[in-house]
Amino acid sequence: MNNERSSTAVTRMQALSKVAIALSETLSLDQLLYKAVAHCIEILNFDAAVVYFLDTEGQQFVASHFHGIDHASIAQLQTLPTDCIGGIVIKNGKTVITENLAPYHQQRPQVEGFASLLSVPIKARKQTIGVLDVFSKAYRDFSPEDITLVESIGMQIGVASENAKLFESIASVTGKLRELVQLNQRLASCLHLDSLIPLLTSELASVFKANVSFLHKVGEQAVLIHSSVADSDISAPYEKQVNTLLHAEPDLIHVYHENENDSLFPFFVQFNMKQAVYVPFVYGDNLHCLLIGKSSDEPWSATEREVMEGITKTISLALTNCYLFQEVEKGREQNSNLRALQISAQEKERQRIAQEIHDSINQSLSGIYFHLQYCRDEIEDSPQRVKGILDKLLLITKENINELRHVIHDLHPLAIQKFGFVGAVDELVKTFSLQEIIQIHLSVSGQPVRFKPEVEIHLYRVIQECVNNIIKHAGAGEAFIRMTFDDVKLSIVVEDHGCGFEPQKLKGSHAYGIMGMETRVRDIGGEMVLTSKPGHGTKIEISLQIDLRGGGVDHE
Ligand SMILES: Nc1ncnc2c1ncn2[C@@H]1O[C@H](COP(=O)(O)OP(=O)(O)OP(=O)(O)O)[C@@H](O)[C@H]1O
Ligand SMILES: [Mg+2]
Repeated sequence: MNNERSSTAVTRMQALSKVAIALSETLSLDQLLYKAVAHCIEILNFDAAVVYFLDTEGQQFVASHFHGIDHASIAQLQTLPTDCIGGIVIKNGKTVITENLAPYHQQRPQVEGFASLLSVPIKARKQTIGVLDVFSKAYRDFSPEDITLVESIGMQIGVASENAKLFESIASVTGKLRELVQLNQRLASCLHLDSLIPLLTSELASVFKANVSFLHKVGEQAVLIHSSVADSDISAPYEKQVNTLLHAEPDLIHVYHENENDSLFPFFVQFNMKQAVYVPFVYGDNLHCLLIGKSSDEPWSATEREVMEGITKTISLALTNCYLFQEVEKGREQNSNLRALQISAQEKERQRIAQEIHDSINQSLSGIYFHLQYCRDEIEDSPQRVKGILDKLLLITKENINELRHVIHDLHPLAIQKFGFVGAVDELVKTFSLQEIIQIHLSVSGQPVRFKPEVEIHLYRVIQECVNNIIKHAGAGEAFIRMTFDDVKLSIVVEDHGCGFEPQKLKGSHAYGIMGMETRVRDIGGEMVLTSKPGHGTKIEISLQIDLRGGGVDHE
C-alpha cells in the first residue's frame, strides 16, 4: 500500500517537473497556458479546464484559455462576474473544491455535463491574479495529492504568466525603440520644412496613435507652426493657458485627460480628444511645444511618454537643420546673383576701357601716324616746319603715355604694388582732394604691414567703394579714414557725417556695392560692421587679423 502511494507520488513529481520544463520553454502566454492545462488534464484525468485572469479594474474574470469546453459554451464563459466560485478563490487566495456541481448548473448552465470542479488560485508575487478551474465529468473526491498538484500548476502558471507579460512589455518597448530610431533617421535626413512637417504628423499618428498634433512657438503670443487638423482655429484662451502652464514648468511633459479641466481646454471638445500630451522643447531662443492628442481612451504608457520626449529633441534638431539649410540656400542664391553682377560689371568695365582707348589713345595714335607720314615726306623740303611738328608730336605722345597710365591704374592700381594698399589709399585720397571733390582725412597709426596682393587689392577696392558711396550718396563735404595696425590686427574705419540711411531697408534690395564690400571682406577672413542712421552719417568698420606666421606680412 505504502509502495503504491510512493510510486504515485513519484509519478506526480515527474509530471510536475514535466509541466515546469514545458512552461520554461516558451515566453508566449498563449502557448504556455495551453501546455500547462494540457499536462494538468492528462496527469489527473480531468475532462476540461479554463484559466481566468482578473481584468485590470478587478471587476470581472476574463478567460485566457479553454480546454475541453464545447464551442457554444466558450462564448458564454468568456467573462464571468467576481461573485461566482472563482470570486471566493480570488478573495481568500485559497482553493475551492466543488465535488458536486449539480446545484450550480442553474446558475452556470454552460458547465452542465460536468460533475466536479476544482478551482485553484493563480498567484504572482503573493497576489492572486487568476483562477485555474479544472472539471471532471464523473463525480470524484479530490485527494490531497490531486489538490497539491493542481495548486502547484496554478502557481507555475502565475510565475510563467508574469514572465510572459514582462517579455511582452519588453518586446513592445523594443519595438517602439526600433520605430523611434527609424523615425529619428527619417526626420534627421529631412531638410525641407515643407516635407518635414507632414512627415512628422503621419509618423506621430502611427507611433502614438495620435489624431491631432500641433507644433507651437510659445511666447507672448503662441504661434501655431503646424497643425494636423486643417483650418484649425484654436481659441485664444487655450493658447494663453497653455503658455502660462508651459512657462511655469518648461521641463515637464504635461499630460491632460478629458474632463480634468474642461473650462481650461475647450479644444478637447473641439477636436474630440480624450487625452493630450504637451511636450515642451527649446528651439533657438524660443520655447516650443508639441501637442499630441488622441480620441481613444487607451492611455499612453510611461515608455511612450519617454519616447515622446526623445522625439522633441529630434524635432528641434530637424527644425534647426531645415532653417540652416534654408539659410545656406539663400546664401547660395545671393552668391550666384553677386557673381552674375560681378561678371556684368567686368563686362561693362571692359567696354568702358575699350571705349576710352578708342576715343583717346587710338585717336591720337592715328593722328601721330598721319603727322609722321607728313614729316617723312617733307623733312628734306621744309626741315624747320617738320621740327615744329615733331615737337608737337612729342608732347602728344607724352600726354598719351600719361593717359595710358591712367587706364592701367584703373585696371590695377600700380601704387598698390609699389607702396602697398596704405600708399594706394593715400594716392586715392590725394586725387580726390586735388580735384576738390571731397576733403578726405586719412590717419594711419601703428606700424603698417604688407598683406598678400589679393588681400591688398580687396582692401583697396572696399575703401574705394566706401569713398565712392560718400561722394554719391552722403552729401558730405569731408570724410575720415582711420587705419590702426597693432600686433595682431588691422582696423579700418571709414566715416562721414552726411545724410546717413537705414541699412535694414537694404535687405533684399540690390545694394550690390555694399554686398560686394561684405563679400570681399569675408573672402579675406575679415569682419565688417556698417552703422548708419538717417541724419547721423555712416560708419564702416573693418577688422582683419594679421597672421604673423606669414599670411599678413609676406609680399614680393
Ligand atoms: N555713405 C553713405 N551715405 C548715405 N547713404 C549711403 C551711403 N553709403 C550707401 N548709402 C545708401 O546705401 C545704398 C546702397 O549702396 P550701394 O553701394 O550698395 O549701392 P549704390 O551705391 O546705390 O550702387 P552701386 O554701388 O552698385 O553703384 C545707396 O543707394 C545709398 O542709398
Ligand atoms: Mg555704391
